[in-house]
Amino acid sequence: MSDKPLSVHYINYLSLDKILDAQTPISKEKGGEAHEEMLFIIIHQTYELWFKQILHELNSAITLFEADRIDESSIGIVVGRMDRVNTILTTLVGQIDILETMSSLDFLDFRDYLSPASGFQSHQFRKIELILGLKIENRHQFGGCPYHSQFDGEHKKEVLALEENNSLFSLVEKWLERIPFLKMDGFDFIKKYEQSVNEMLQKEINNIQTADLTDQDRDLRLKMIDQNRKYFQRVLSKREHDKAMLDGETRLSYKATMSALLINLYRDEPILHSPYQFLRSLVELDHKISTWRFRHVQMVEKMLGLKIGTGGSSGQGYLKQTVDKHKFFTDLANISTLMISRSYLPSLPKITKDQLGYNYSK
Ligand code: HEM
Repeated sequence: MSDKPLSVHYINYLSLDKILDAQTPISKEKGGEAHEEMLFIIIHQTYELWFKQILHELNSAITLFEADRIDESSIGIVVGRMDRVNTILTTLVGQIDILETMSSLDFLDFRDYLSPASGFQSHQFRKIELILGLKIENRHQFGGCPYHSQFDGEHKKEVLALEENNSLFSLVEKWLERIPFLKMDGFDFIKKYEQSVNEMLQKEINNIQTADLTDQDRDLRLKMIDQNRKYFQRVLSKREHDKAMLDGETRLSYKATMSALLINLYRDEPILHSPYQFLRSLVELDHKISTWRFRHVQMVEKMLGLKIGTGGSSGQGYLKQTVDKHKFFTDLANISTLMISRSYLPSLPKITKDQLGYNYSK
């Protein structure tokens, strides 16, 4: 026997025999193999592999955010991982183009054999949604059964546990609430910001009043500014914000929203750069998943028209509802409404800049 240690072989390391032996077109079993079914299987398997990688990244973000101390390096690591997730999602959207090379007629050659299987039963997709923060009460319901009635055994247990666990949404909210920047010595962010907003609106009013406009045009523009003022007042009032949360118009707490606003406004401060990148990556992720949902609906429209889904939903009708309703970080995206130009940004006193330390402890 040779003393040479066994070398790792590509085929074994990647379990290629298992993976490459895992495509079994159902149409073949039924007697007449539909050529396109191989593509259909491989595309879905590729999706599931990428879902596995996305879960790997998201779970690591959850672990880092559950720690007692979230320091700058943790944020940097998470930003890198979220960027990776977003790049994968770009590929996942692109993969729809490949599946669309199959025509609806080709699909019908094997579609009937698939019922009642459906992407609706992808437990990994549900896990991604749950880890990001889409809990059952925020879902668009169809039919009488909850989405998890599609699962049993380990898959059901996992999904139900995730309904109860921390999500990235809830952990980010807590992290934002803990960031000690809202009130620092000599700098009350909300008060200063409100003053700047009023100054900005007053300047706009002055410009309108001195501009060469018809009375009607002037009144219209002044009314718009007034609406703007009311919007800012509503957002900056904790009482109004809490009411909006109760009414289901917003999910992120008042304190977390104000911290996110501060991070967005003062993103040029070196200490806030990584937090800003992180918040941006979450909004990006939300947009990418929505883009995937939208492209998936378009594909379903091409393949099925108005036919119902194999999973028993109304098909494209149900899926269209999820594009808007199944978002995770809308409140972070909406922060853009509150941006004011740098010329109105309250300048930070030196002591405040010095206080912008890197460590946010529980
Ligand atoms: C011919 C191509 C496809 C068609 C016609 C199709 C059709 C549908 C339909 C009608 C639904 C709604 C549930 C139902 O009643 O079945 C659905 C859900 C779903 N599909 Fe597809 N699909 C296709 C390809 C894919 C691919 C490639 C993936 C990738 C994993 C996928 C993932 C999903 C997921 C995750 C859901 C659940 C969405 C949700 O509930 O928000 N589908 N699909």
